[in-house]
Amino acid sequence: MATINENYLKLKAGYLFPEIARRVAAFTEANPEAPIIKLGIGDVTEPLPQACLEAMSKAISEMGDRATFKGYGPEQGYGWLREKIAAQDFQARNCDIDASEIFVSDGAKCDTGNILDIFGKDNRIAVTDPVYPVYVDTNVMAGHTGPANDDGKYEGLVYMPISADNNFTAEIPSDKVDLVYLCFPNNPTGATATQEHLKAWVDYAREHQAIILFDAAYEAFITDESLPHSIYEIEGAKDCAIEFRSFSKNAGFTGTRCAYTVVPKSLTATTSSGETVQLHQLWNRRQSTKFNGVSYIVQRGAEAVYSDAGQAQIKALVGFYLENAKIICDRLSKAGLTVYGGVNAPYVWVKTPNGLSSWEFFDKLLQTANVVGTPGSGFGAAGEGYFRISAFNSRANVEEAMTRVTENFKV
Ligand code: MLT
Repeated sequence: MATINENYLKLKAGYLFPEIARRVAAFTEANPEAPIIKLGIGDVTEPLPQACLEAMSKAISEMGDRATFKGYGPEQGYGWLREKIAAQDFQARNCDIDASEIFVSDGAKCDTGNILDIFGKDNRIAVTDPVYPVYVDTNVMAGHTGPANDDGKYEGLVYMPISADNNFTAEIPSDKVDLVYLCFPNNPTGATATQEHLKAWVDYAREHQAIILFDAAYEAFITDESLPHSIYEIEGAKDCAIEFRSFSKNAGFTGTRCAYTVVPKSLTATTSSGETVQLHQLWNRRQSTKFNGVSYIVQRGAEAVYSDAGQAQIKALVGFYLENAKIICDRLSKAGLTVYGGVNAPYVWVKTPNGLSSWEFFDKLLQTANVVGTPGSGFGAAGEGYFRISAFNSRANVEEAMTRVTENFKV
């Protein structure tokens, strides 16, 4: 009989979002009339920017004509998209990133998980607590951890607590780790990182020959000009960081699927015998073997993000969600709740009122206000007592949800 990858059996019951969906489905089955508003998973609701739509429509027509039809594209993404990404997302911000260092993909979630293919099994891996669960679960699947202990932490991982006490930015470890996951603007807390904070990480990584896995999926939500959008804005980061970006949240591509990962050519790690190897070369090999690229149509849609019209449209889209976040923060604060984030990020991190646990607050909110959020404890033990509210929804739904929540939970 075939055997399985037993690491999967170490995983806690379910991935957070399917577990939420299960509870919501059970509630809806029992209460079919309940007017549920979902502010749980960070999934966009507003339609695609017009510039992307037009570019994709044109690309569809090209696919219907023998003269312009496209088969397999380059596994790394089309040159015209990689060039625009390098020029506008990086070189325009004085980051020395070349188009050949960009790998276009179908999602930052997939890439943050898949990147583990090119790393060894004996690395010391650090994550924040709370954290985007994909970083943890993919390490469990890859066999980089022991079993989970009673408070849900996996043996072998280094957890770096983040809370209001440290502005939701982790302290630099005093000992050595090899891989560090950072996410700014942060999912789930909505916190941001200053230049100084990222510089401290880059200095640490260079000193300890560690690699930073920097998830910048929410960088478009940064409105504070003093905050860095990319880790490569920090000198030396090209020698120690991989960056993940996405079109999901800035251009509404959650259902369209396009993202990219930057693996600088200067980035290296070693074999067990101490030989130095370029990570770019390994990731290129991995992608050419396991991935056949993003569809031509979708890449044309992503390219349109970089046109003048596309830039103006995504700015408006992001601005719309940021206004939602502001409404959520204002309304909850006025009702006496303590809120964090939601300023340069689409997530609001709320302290649960009346000493409720994260899941208790989830259930109460679902039952009394018919509003769905995400329990902070689902992001890690240190998220207990917090609750994440996503700003991705229509204005009417956000307003209505806040009315219902504040009516039910005045403190
Ligand atoms: C979230 O709700 O945390 C996001 O949807 C995660 C994701 O983009 O995968």
